Amino acid sequence: MALRLGDLAPDFTASTTEGTIDFHQWLGDSWGVLFSHPADYTPVCTTELGTVARIKSEFEKRKVKVIAISVDPLNSHQGWIKDINETQRCSMNFPIIADESRRVATAYDMIHPNVDDRATVRSVFVIGPDKRIKLTLTYPASTGRNFAEILRVIDSLQLTANHKVATPADWRQGEDCIVSPSVSDADAQKLFPKGVRRVKPYLRYTPQPNM
Ligand code: BEZ
Repeated sequence: MALRLGDLAPDFTASTTEGTIDFHQWLGDSWGVLFSHPADYTPVCTTELGTVARIKSEFEKRKVKVIAISVDPLNSHQGWIKDINETQRCSMNFPIIADESRRVATAYDMIHPNVDDRATVRSVFVIGPDKRIKLTLTYPASTGRNFAEILRVIDSLQLTANHKVATPADWRQGEDCIVSPSVSDADAQKLFPKGVRRVKPYLRYTPQPNM
């Protein structure tokens, strides 16, 4: 069954390029990004893994652990990593799950049989410290993901988990936020001492509260 926002991220034990992991234990109290790849030794996936390796410090800054998955075996992943490092000017620095049995891919509904009944699509799951799914994205095999967007969404998720705000279209770290509709005008004045700009009763902006 498809996983929905708020669902518990399925736990699993799996072989990875950095040893065997128990997923929930590996996550600890961090946030997590689990993202799938249709197959090893494929061009788009090669660029995606290289991109994530180069910007891993951005995930670390946000206390997010990243982990990739493909249904190919471990020895294939290990050979492919050499190509990724060579062609993408990086040094792979996060695990890739070897999911030959498709156990994890099936638990996360990463195989969409009307497209391909063996390989995974490009799924992204952002998982909170409570192990619940905070974001899902699904891209086709032919389109590489925008990891800057994934970082941007994580910034929004982490902000809105702790403050009664939402983030508007195309919001970026440091820009004004929207006061949650559940907050009354009177409470908004107290909660947001930097000020509230009231454009409409339902559209109120405030400077980003945690900056
Ligand atoms: C790729 O990663 O380049 C790719 C994988 C499967 C189908 C098409 C492209």
